[in-house]
Amino acid sequence: MPASPVAPQSVSAAAIELQGLVKDFAIGLRGVKLRAVDHLTLRIEPGQVFGLLGPNGSGKSTTIKLLLGLLAPTAGRGTIFGVPSERADARRTVGYLPEAPYFYGHLTGFELVRFYARLSGLGGRALDEGARAAIDRVEMTGAADRLVRNYSKGMLQRIGLAQAIVHQPQLLILDEPTAGVDPAGAAMIARLVLELKAEGKTVLITSHLLAQMEEVCDGVAILDRGRLIYQGRMADLPGRGNRQAMVLDALPPGELEELRAWLAARGRALHSVETPRAQLERVYLERVGKQEQS
Ligand SMILES: Nc1ncnc2c1ncn2[C@@H]1O[C@H](COP(=O)(O)OP(=O)(O)OP(=O)(O)O)[C@@H](O)[C@H]1O
Ligand SMILES: [Mg+2]
Repeated sequence: MPASPVAPQSVSAAAIELQGLVKDFAIGLRGVKLRAVDHLTLRIEPGQVFGLLGPNGSGKSTTIKLLLGLLAPTAGRGTIFGVPSERADARRTVGYLPEAPYFYGHLTGFELVRFYARLSGLGGRALDEGARAAIDRVEMTGAADRLVRNYSKGMLQRIGLAQAIVHQPQLLILDEPTAGVDPAGAAMIARLVLELKAEGKTVLITSHLLAQMEEVCDGVAILDRGRLIYQGRMADLPGRGNRQAMVLDALPPGELEELRAWLAARGRALHSVETPRAQLERVYLERVGKQEQS
């Protein structure tokens, strides 16, 4: 995505603003239309990690393409840091990982990231250094000199991510970055997103992995058939602020009842007792370890 680190046009502008966005696709010979995005209005503040959720076909990728000016809206408008989506300079401050990235397979990973870095206006030493740093961040250094056409699916996602961050954009748009990525890769992406947030960047991310979205997002919107059906901050999710989970050695039934009674005497309730899950992930990550792609 062509870009250079340009300051946002207006400090008070939203990172992303969508107003009454509509997209109809012609899907039949007789002018039959499919409304992929249906009067979508949304505001995402700078510095937020924002999740766009929804079932397959609910309009997430279409919304992103409208925002980036890659598709023309049927109605409504989008802006990036106050700049209308249809203007090419709206994309200067943006890094984009498409849902199904197409990359030149005859380049090596390093050449590919360098190519995008050059398109983004980087030059001289910053070009090679920037490309190397981005590749390192996505843990692809060991595979950087291999041809992109021979990369596995998850490796393509990683190099796509390096291409999206190489010019240090203010806004990063990631359309299902974890699709096809292994658990260590998914954890790396979550870390990267949080690092970018700590640097003050804004991140718009789509994913079907709700638990991971809950970990990284400040706010989410849920789309269904192109319509916004929910918008909220993670911090406001019910039961988040006033509940705690503890992991204990298993209690025999008698002691569990004693614990329940002890809590009840203090006006507190034990809401659930369950065996912790996510053990498979722990075992997997312990055994496989943090491995560089090569
Ligand atoms: N170029 C197109 N022409 C016709 N229909 C399209 C086109 N692009 C998308 N659509 C339709 O628009 C709807 C929304 O698609 P979109 O790709 O935005 O969904 P999504 O929420 O990203 O889904 P997924 O989770 O599967 O990626 C779908 O019904 C899709 O078939
Ligand atoms: Mg999609």
